[in-house]
Amino acid sequence: MPSKAAPKKAKKTPKLVLGLSGSPRRGGNTDALVNEVLKGAKKAGARTRFINVASLKIRPCVACYYCAAHHGVCAIKDDMAKINDALAQADVWVFGSPVYWFNMSAQLKTVVDRLFPFAVDPCCSPLRGKTAAVVTTSGDPHARVMSAPIFDSFEQSFEFLGVKFAGRLAAQGVDKKDVARRWNNFKPARALGAKLAK
Ligand SMILES: Cc1cc2nc3c(=O)[nH]c(=O)nc-3n(C[C@H](O)[C@H](O)[C@H](O)COP(=O)(O)O)c2cc1C
Repeated sequence: MPSKAAPKKAKKTPKLVLGLSGSPRRGGNTDALVNEVLKGAKKAGARTRFINVASLKIRPCVACYYCAAHHGVCAIKDDMAKINDALAQADVWVFGSPVYWFNMSAQLKTVVDRLFPFAVDPCCSPLRGKTAAVVTTSGDPHARVMSAPIFDSFEQSFEFLGVKFAGRLAAQGVDKKDVARRWNNFKPARALGAKLAK
């Protein structure tokens, strides 16, 4: 009798984890923290991609409501299209922001505002069902207290967009290299990345 070969298990495509840093200070604390999370995700088998949104040309939403009349198509043609593609391609997002006056940076807020086209037609949004985490850096040592408004804002925005909020992390740093120096191989960031890769 020929032995029956065991059915081959279909290989699962590794998750794509996208890190978006909203810090204008390239290579600073926020970039470092987002990258620590991505390193954790990569080690756990995920594919990763990093974009510093502050280095792109993204104009603020002007509330023209063109998107509401045109099935979620934005009237502004700029680098936001790259972010939209990246968000749609990724399974998981990691938004990172420095705390600026108890809130997220203007650069990241501009990106969040430009997600409005996905809110006007939520049933058909390609962003629904994604998973996201938020990480922050602050000068004040009470990083979690400083970051609370950012976490709240994202939690509610994600709920509206149909995105699962999967984690938050706040780290303290003032000088550009503080986070990288103190938190290279920062365990909670790596652990968050590993969790997001699952
Ligand atoms: C405009 C501005 C506003 C800031 N506001 C705060 C704040 O409200 N609370 C705080 O703890 N740190 C504040 N900081 C400090 C930054 O959050 C901190 O240095 C952070 O690590 C910077 O991250 P980066 O290296 O990615 O730029 C502020 C910094 C700037 C430039």
